Amino acid sequence: TIVILDFGSQYTQLIARRIREFNVFSVVLPCTTPLDKVLALQPKGIVLSGGPSSVYDDTAPKADPKVLETGLPVLGICYGLQFMTHHLGGKVVPAAAREYGHAEVELVDPTALFHGLPEKLEVWMSHGDHAETLAPGFRVTARTANAVASIADESRKMWAVQFHPEVAHTKQGMALLKNFAVDICGAKQDWTPEHFIATTVAKIREQVGETGHAICGLSGGVDSSVAAVLVARAIGDRLTCIFVNNGVLRKDEFAKVQKTMREELKLNVVAVDASERFLGKLAGVTDPEKKRKIIGNEFISVFDDEAKKIFEAEKSSGEEIAWLVQGTLYPDVIESASVHGPSHVIKSHHNVGGLPEDMKLKLIEPLRDLFKDEVRRIGRDLDMPEEILERQPFPGPGLAVRILGEVTPERVAILQEADAICVEEIKRAGLYRKVWQSFAVLLPVKSVGVMGDQRTYASTCAIRAVESEDGMTADWAALPYEVLRAISSRIVSEVRGINRVVYDITSKPPGTIEWE
Ligand code: XMP
Repeated sequence: TIVILDFGSQYTQLIARRIREFNVFSVVLPCTTPLDKVLALQPKGIVLSGGPSSVYDDTAPKADPKVLETGLPVLGICYGLQFMTHHLGGKVVPAAAREYGHAEVELVDPTALFHGLPEKLEVWMSHGDHAETLAPGFRVTARTANAVASIADESRKMWAVQFHPEVAHTKQGMALLKNFAVDICGAKQDWTPEHFIATTVAKIREQVGETGHAICGLSGGVDSSVAAVLVARAIGDRLTCIFVNNGVLRKDEFAKVQKTMREELKLNVVAVDASERFLGKLAGVTDPEKKRKIIGNEFISVFDDEAKKIFEAEKSSGEEIAWLVQGTLYPDVIESASVHGPSHVIKSHHNVGGLPEDMKLKLIEPLRDLFKDEVRRIGRDLDMPEEILERQPFPGPGLAVRILGEVTPERVAILQEADAICVEEIKRAGLYRKVWQSFAVLLPVKSVGVMGDQRTYASTCAIRAVESEDGMTADWAALPYEVLRAISSRIVSEVRGINRVVYDITSKPPGTIEWE
């Protein structure tokens, strides 16, 4: 085991998942976890995560400084480097120039951490502070043009980097983490998808018991399908899946998903068309967070209603549904609320943030610690069809967060058509699996155009296509001009109500993938 102490960075869980990627088990604990609890896990090494604060602030998240005296190998990342420096007698101050985004690092005095890596690394930086004076015993092992990028004190088994090896933009980040976990710490590489499936299925069986029933919200996407299949493995037909048409699904999605879930995954599916109910509540609402809350609350209340109906029979025999299965992933959790403390709220994802206080069902979230591609790996081990596993992510609040301004049935229909064309052309070009997501967004902007001899005054549609590994960071995809041309000309000529198409060229951060 490698223990990661979380100082509140948005990327903390990403460190765990990178380490799991080379099959070493790793867990994230709040930085305030008492040291004896950390050591009780018998870790082979400790990683100190990044964080949004400054070590010298009174409100900065604190770990027991004795964590630096255990004799175990320690790797500090960003804030972790500053924490080490600060507590071991060095000095951390605000940097004259904040480093943010891509940077080039040059190794000046490489250690085992950089074993097998090139002399120059492309890395991702995100910090406002830096180590001005190193703690005694430490030396600089790598630098950027402006600052210290890595330090080490091998006699105390301490290594630290100012950049983020866990994000995909740091090209050699995985190799670096592997050098630490496997070579330096000697952790075993025995944590695999089969292992995850076996332990998760056993845990669900124990939670739900011999007679308990569960219901599951299916969306048709990877997450809820994998969650459902895992739970079905554990409790068989005591799982009923509910698939809700919330009125903001994509074109033909309601029918298609039902077919796949029943015929391919052999799941027990109840389909509910609640689109009028959702669209009624969304009428007149333009605030993004309000839309999310409305859809979240409505979704749960449709569930409650359906659950009551489905289990009427069980009630008469004294049994009750107690469980609601959700395919919540780690990025949903981290961006909805702070799990371990100080990371900032960005969007409230409906499947976490919008649950009403009086919810009567208990939650099973078997994928809560995982990232999308880990879920795909699990799905493959469960023999699920590629068509489901390779589906691009689609947000719970659906097209509602891609329709800026008011969500009306007419605007939903317009976006469904535009989106279908976008996806069709992306698939035709063989790019569907290469990009993380590709979709259309309907803007509340009208502009003047000319079609035939007619003046038009209609809506603008934005195309968003991004490359990403996990949805936490993303780059806009450099789609070929021919593909953009095909999407644009088909949308303008085939979709009534849109007369202009633009392409979104914003990366995440600073943008988010969805527009709301
Ligand atoms: P953002 O827009 O925050 O999105 O950069 C990151 C990833 O999460 C998806 N997303 C959601 N998924 N419920 C979900 O299940 C939601 O409310 C939600 N909002 C965003 C988004 O599509 C992207 O893949």
